[in-house]
Amino acid sequence: MSARFVIAAAASLFGGGLPAIAAQEAALVEAGARIARESCISCHAVEAGDGKSAGRRQTGDAPAFGAIAAMPSTTEVAIKVFLQTPHPNMPNIMLTQAEIDALTAYILDFRNR
Ligand code: HEC
Repeated sequence: MSARFVIAAAASLFGGGLPAIAAQEAALVEAGARIARESCISCHAVEAGDGKSAGRRQTGDAPAFGAIAAMPSTTEVAIKVFLQTPHPNMPNIMLTQAEIDALTAYILDFRNR
């Protein structure tokens, strides 16, 4: 296989692939936002991308999603594990794997805002 062919193949792969991946990611983030507005907003600020406490309700100590995203310890795996583990201060909200994926993408997307 010539180098020229490899470069052409890679260019066509990424040329077509990256926008598709970005669109998929955007759809996931949007789905996560919808779930968060239904299930998480009673405690977490879900709009404040700056990590400030705007939108905090009821519970004083639930961090805003923007603040969670800003923590160095927050990774995709950490959020997914957290959402599948019972947590003392958080009700055990039943989430499907797809919902967990969407919420994780949504929370991490605060890093881009
Ligand atoms: C009844 C209030 C309540 C609801 C509803 C709630 N949370 Fe929480 N959540 C909390 C509290 C309080 C904490 C902080 C717990 C702690 O760290 O001790 C927390 C922590 C978290 C963390 C971890 C932050 C860290 O320290 O790593 C994540 C992620 C999270 N919540 C996601 C969600 C998602 C997603 C939803 C909606 C499906 C949700 N929460 C709904 C109260 C809530």
